[in-house]
Amino acid sequence: MQTATETRIIRPAKNVYGSLRLPGDKSISHRYGMLAAFAEGTSRFTNFSTGADCASTLACMEALGAKVRRVDVGSVPGDGSVEVTGVGGRVTPPQTQSAAPLDCGNSGSTMRMISGLLAPQQGRFTLVGDESLSRRPMGRIREPLAAMGARLTLTDGHAPLTIDGTPLKAIDYTTPVPSAQVKTCILLAGLQTAGTTTVREAVRTRDHSELALRAFGARLERTLDSVSISGPQKLHAIDAAVPGDISSAAFFLCAAALFPGSSLVLDSLGLNPTRAALLDVLTSLGARIGVLNLEEKNAELVGTVQVTAPAEGLGTALISGALAAQLIDELPVLAAIGPYTSGGIRIRDAKELRVKESDRIALVAKNLRAMGAEVIEFEDGLDVPGGQILHGAMIDSGGDHRIAMAFSVAALRADGETLIAGAESAAISFPEFFELLDLVAER
Ligand code: S3P
Repeated sequence: MQTATETRIIRPAKNVYGSLRLPGDKSISHRYGMLAAFAEGTSRFTNFSTGADCASTLACMEALGAKVRRVDVGSVPGDGSVEVTGVGGRVTPPQTQSAAPLDCGNSGSTMRMISGLLAPQQGRFTLVGDESLSRRPMGRIREPLAAMGARLTLTDGHAPLTIDGTPLKAIDYTTPVPSAQVKTCILLAGLQTAGTTTVREAVRTRDHSELALRAFGARLERTLDSVSISGPQKLHAIDAAVPGDISSAAFFLCAAALFPGSSLVLDSLGLNPTRAALLDVLTSLGARIGVLNLEEKNAELVGTVQVTAPAEGLGTALISGALAAQLIDELPVLAAIGPYTSGGIRIRDAKELRVKESDRIALVAKNLRAMGAEVIEFEDGLDVPGGQILHGAMIDSGGDHRIAMAFSVAALRADGETLIAGAESAAISFPEFFELLDLVAER
């Protein structure tokens, strides 16, 4: 997803109105797909993520011996059904490794989580990614895996990486940077390792792996700041509906929050408390958020969310500390709507944004400036003053799905048309994004 091939025109909107059901959560789909492919038996999922990232996870797991049958993925949102028959705890190393490495595409989740799964397996595995993924730090998984005794070789701290599978030993590890991907990597290695492996984190990151592992039959111990798994354990197939993706919903929730008179209803949305901080931030900005029909599915909270914009416009927000880590995927869109608030949006403690699919701090600042906004960039965040009027511009998505979508939202309130270069990158997490935006943006 490096070369911008598709440019989309986003025209300003008068309102955002309607009701949507969004495709399955990317984080949960990665985990369900990976665990099902590793488990014993056949799992069936509905509303599986339609994004290219989760397709990368499924393709890697297929190359490792799992059977994947996709029904309708990538067509109408909400009907992505996937059937996965697992390898029963022992993967098959691809026979011609040099010719066919495991391709993780643009997906950091795939590469970091699968490394933990493969480190204790038998055989040699080579993992590659696209240009963006090959720039992202992989030392953060090598360190704990090496402490477990894994043989993992990086290329100058990055992909391509090679794993020579070997039995591991349990560790007690505190993650230096809050990362659910790193936590998951260690837990998947711990699942297959004798003894108790513990991961401690200063900020509680998304807990989909813990919930999914339990749903697949694993036993885990949790405290407020740690999770422990005793191995080896076997996983068993499940049937599950994947909740709608709240990080995809963020673009629509923020869009609706911009227009007094708007009303947007999103049903069957994932509302896991480790993911739902955006709702609090929007509420503190003045938006009215209603949550209905809350239920638990495979330990994941799911519900219907209605958002209405405040008549007096959005207020102000400071996002820092643990909140910045919990909202990491939603920060680009929050920053992009900052100029339309009265008091601005300030973001700190979000240095991780610099090592996502792009340097999201630099690209958000660059694109806001292209639209005529004033913005101050910090090493770990941004100050986006409120009360600004933006004009349409050419947006550089940098091949980053969340940048393309965040600026499509900013474009709805700008004067004139905005061009999103590299709009195809939205398909990494949300191929239906532009189609659904057209459905709810009233012109
Ligand atoms: C994810 C964790 C986060 C997030 C990413 C998905 C996950 O990354 O930004 O989009 O599914 O575990 P980190 O683990 O690097 O914080």
